[in-house]
Amino acid sequence: MKSIILFASALVLILRNSAFASASLEDTCKKVQASDPNDKYEFCITSLQVVPESRTANLSQLTIIATQLSIKNYTHTLGVIAQLLKNHSLSHWQKEALETCQESYNSGVDDSKDAIKDVKAGDIFGASASLSAAAGAPGDCEDAFSEGEEASLLPREDDLASKISALAIDIVALLKSKSSIP
Ligand SMILES: *[C@@H]1O[C@H](CO)[C@@H](O)[C@H](O)[C@H]1NC(C)=O
Ligand SMILES: *[C@@H]1O[C@H](CO)[C@@H](O)[C@H](O)[C@H]1NC(C)=O
Ligand SMILES: *[C@@H]1O[C@H](CO)[C@@H](O)[C@H](O)[C@H]1NC(C)=O
Repeated sequence: MKSIILFASALVLILRNSAFASASLEDTCKKVQASDPNDKYEFCITSLQVVPESRTANLSQLTIIATQLSIKNYTHTLGVIAQLLKNHSLSHWQKEALETCQESYNSGVDDSKDAIKDVKAGDIFGASASLSAAAGAPGDCEDAFSEGEEASLLPREDDLASKISALAIDIVALLKSKSSIP
């Protein structure tokens, strides 16, 4: 009898842990690194640590947090673009490229907002598609400059934005692999 009770309480503990334990941040970032080993661990930790809730967040919540960071970053970049567009000495191609960047980052913000709605609605595949679309912005922006044979006016911004949007994709990929039917 005693052993049955012990067994039962152990089982409850195990079940509770597997159902409610939040993936630790370090664990998630290790998996992110493993999925795409490009010195991503440090970037993953330092980016997500900025948001205190990420300590206790599960994978869906971490996807939302990373996406919100990405939106913040895209919005910051849009501010830089608006500032640059005020310059009246820009070449024709510089202006064209900046306008392309503005469009891409704006739709990137919209796609990211869609991704958050998708995660909240439990549509992980939708979220993944939206995040992939959003992650195109920094590359589209760089391409716009190279197509005009202009040096990028946003190399730093595009680089950081592509890293943070890739992080959101890496995390949603973990969520996707967990939620797909075994
Ligand atoms: C994460 O927690 C939220 C809120 O408790 C829950 O709605 C969601 O389903 C959880 N996601 C995962 C992957 O466990
Ligand atoms: C404005 O654009 C021109 C052409 O790219 C550049 O030479 C100049 O430094 C820019 N001025 C400012 C204030 O950014
Ligand atoms: C976003 O990118 C900018 C550079 O464009 C960087 O200075 C900033 O720290 C980044 N912010 C976040 C939240 O990642």
